[in-house]
Amino acid sequence: MAEKRILCIGAGYVGGPTMAMIACKCPEFCVTVVDINPERIAAWKSDHLPIYEPGLDELVRTSRGRNLFFSTEIEKGIRENDIIFVSVNTPTKSFGLGAGLAADLQYWEKTARQILEFSQSPKIVIEKSTLPVKTALAMERILNSRENGIHFDVLSNPEFLAEGSAVGDLELPDRVLIGSRETREGLQARETIAEIYAHWVPRERILTSNIWSSELSKLVANAFLAQRISSINTISALCEKTEANVAEVSCAVGMDSRIGPKFLNASIGFGGSCFKKDILNLVYLCRSYGLNEVADYWEMVVRINDYQQERFIQGMLGAMFNTLAGKKIALFGFAFKANTGDTRESPAITIARRLIEERAIVVISDPQALKNARRDLAGLEEHVHYVEDPYAAAEGCHAIAVMTEWAIYKDLDFQKIYNGMEKPAFIFDGRNIIDHRACFDTGFNVFSIGKPPLTHFER
Ligand code: UDX
Ligand code: ADP
Repeated sequence: MAEKRILCIGAGYVGGPTMAMIACKCPEFCVTVVDINPERIAAWKSDHLPIYEPGLDELVRTSRGRNLFFSTEIEKGIRENDIIFVSVNTPTKSFGLGAGLAADLQYWEKTARQILEFSQSPKIVIEKSTLPVKTALAMERILNSRENGIHFDVLSNPEFLAEGSAVGDLELPDRVLIGSRETREGLQARETIAEIYAHWVPRERILTSNIWSSELSKLVANAFLAQRISSINTISALCEKTEANVAEVSCAVGMDSRIGPKFLNASIGFGGSCFKKDILNLVYLCRSYGLNEVADYWEMVVRINDYQQERFIQGMLGAMFNTLAGKKIALFGFAFKANTGDTRESPAITIARRLIEERAIVVISDPQALKNARRDLAGLEEHVHYVEDPYAAAEGCHAIAVMTEWAIYKDLDFQKIYNGMEKPAFIFDGRNIIDHRACFDTGFNVFSIGKPPLTHFER
């Protein structure tokens, strides 16, 4: 068995893929991933991994059973490993002070206490989950609360992978960030972790910093990315009022090398477990330091995201003669982005709920996310159907709304779909991915984001 050992607590979207990559690239390390959820662990050990991520099955297969192990034995894991990554969930608090804004640190604190309880030797504890700035300080305080002589170094090593491209992002990261205390032990621990990544990441991409900068950088990176989406989405609203086309505007703006072309796709809004949560964390942090203007500035990024979703619904209502009651509407996609089955904070959840409020019947189609969709819309079974095949989903519908940018939706036979729908038939493309002109020529009335509508009605 390999003599160097790593433990990861939390076998989710971050912990699982990250540890699979480390195990693959560092064969001399024995990597164990533990979780309190036995079903999740069983799935990681099976042929049906608990998350869908392109390339992940192959990656896990290269090391599982060799130097990558999944287990529920948290206590044993802590005892046997001196390098411990923590990637447990830190959702937004739903109760008490900071509800709706601050991070709920209960899982994370529980983990810190478990590490303290079961440790018998010095440990390097690495925060992988996104956490509010200064969380490491709290972790240090908990870990050092006993006079047992065991030394703990707490490091921050935020994960920047995006879902759907996690394997590629882990293999070729833009950067790896490692923050630590600038004490002798802290710097040594920093180097130990840097050496792990240096197995495959060029040294110049391994950044080190003080621990607070590292924690803050993760929140700020996500806030900046989300801000670009909200910015272009505000412009999409203006485009719809003028005859400008948001895709043309993004292209022209993005060609400025100072701005760059990525993350300028107007859409129904961003989803995912990180953007909203991290911005609200940032907002809470700023308010707690009395920086109200700064907090207001970032809060607007989230408000614009909500506005964009509501605007989409109002657009559908307006186009469909101000009533959706009794109409069947197919949602193409439910995942928060393509190439994942994850639906956390997916705009499709809000859109589906709003359509149901308008008394529409919703037919949901998605190649990977139907299981999660069923859970997200539990209790609404009377109003929702789940149909994986998009052709069957659209049958008899009045409208299609594209929620997720799955590549399969670009190449559908829209003539065939049109033939099976109620007329007039509508497409609302919340991702601007389908060929609008071709769909219009087929007979559809086509509404997209930030572009003039293509309709067969007299103006
Ligand atoms: C994000 C960050 O990109 C990643 O670095 C961090 O580690 C976790 O949070 P993720 O949420 O997985 O990753 O996906 P991302 O690709 O960032 O997309 C987030 C949302 O923004 C999706 O709903 C996506 O559809 C939307 N989006 C993205 C747009 O609407 N327009 C764009 O131009 C880009
Ligand atoms: P992320 O997207 O940040 O990876 P996930 O929710 O996908 O978040 O994964 C977090 C994982 O952490 C879950 O599988 C959850 O069961 C696990 N977890 C939460 N608390 C603990 C704990 N105290 N010990 C071990 N695992 C935990």
